[in-house]
Amino acid sequence: MGLLDGKVVFITGGARGQGRAHAVASAREGADVALLDRAQDIDTVGYPLGTADDLEQTASLVEEFGRRAMRFAGDVRSQSDLDSAVAATIAEFGKIDALIANAGIWATGPFWELSDEQWSDMIEVCLTGVWRSAKAVAPHMIERQSGSIVMTSSVDGLEPGGIYAHYTAAKHGVIGLMKSVALELAPHGPRCNSVNPGAVDTPMLDNQPGYDLISGHPGGTRDDLVEGGHRFNVLRGTALLDPMEIANTTVYLNSDLAAKVTGTTVLVDAGHMLLTGYNHSPVR
Ligand SMILES: NC(=O)c1ccc[n+]([C@@H]2O[C@H](COP(=O)([O-])OP(=O)(O)OC[C@H]3O[C@@H](n4cnc5c(N)ncnc54)[C@H](O)[C@@H]3O)[C@@H](O)[C@H]2O)c1
Repeated sequence: MGLLDGKVVFITGGARGQGRAHAVASAREGADVALLDRAQDIDTVGYPLGTADDLEQTASLVEEFGRRAMRFAGDVRSQSDLDSAVAATIAEFGKIDALIANAGIWATGPFWELSDEQWSDMIEVCLTGVWRSAKAVAPHMIERQSGSIVMTSSVDGLEPGGIYAHYTAAKHGVIGLMKSVALELAPHGPRCNSVNPGAVDTPMLDNQPGYDLISGHPGGTRDDLVEGGHRFNVLRGTALLDPMEIANTTVYLNSDLAAKVTGTTVLVDAGHMLLTGYNHSPVR
């Protein structure tokens, strides 16, 4: 018996990283999975995004569990991409029990240097895309009087991030959106929560801009990133989080074990948010 036996889970940003882990964990627990990913780069993002091959590989991993997988090349900035993927999933699988609104991008820059395009890409993907995803499944969930939405925020939804004000603003926005969605859906039955990861070992961080940010200088390395992970966390022996550690929490939120859990943020951060604001390298 799996925790999600017979359920259908729709995942945005499902090609790789945490989206892939959500897909694998959902399938492991008995769910069929629909995956939507842009599978193309975005100019204002300094690292490659997921690819069509990544999307196909995630679908294969789901199928290895004997579960069904649908894959959609689509952008969470497009309501029609989302609406048509949701409609096709319901037509094929009969329903959607859970949405994991996970697609996201990350980029850095002092707020006063961000271009209009950098700002709007970030907000459109990381905040508006989450609203669009929830909007796409809401009528179906309301009609069925059940469902679970998990929105991916971040510890950056609860504290300032270094030099990425647009990302921080979007991730704070996701928490407000999640609470409003939870409140509006509650009388109809569906639930909504956010998962707030700390630093996770995915291609979003495992790249040169990530190394440079963590090391504090150009030319940073993967070792710098891992060391930064240790310093970001409190829990013994934790450098970067494994994406499956986020996915296992999402499985719980989408399962009947969490039947009365709605409107809450769930931190998966190895204790990062317990840290006091000690400045290890003050600028005098
Ligand atoms: N990696 C971290 O440390 C970390 C920490 C906290 C929160 N998060 C959040 O977790 C989520 C997943 O990120 P990840 O770490 O797996 O990164 P990732 O870059 O490995 O995966 C993100 C996926 O989203 C897809 N995507 C990006 N823009 C899209 C769009 N407009 N439409 C559809 N798909 C799109 C990408 O192609 C990629 O496959 C994001 O919302 C991110 O902000 C990440």
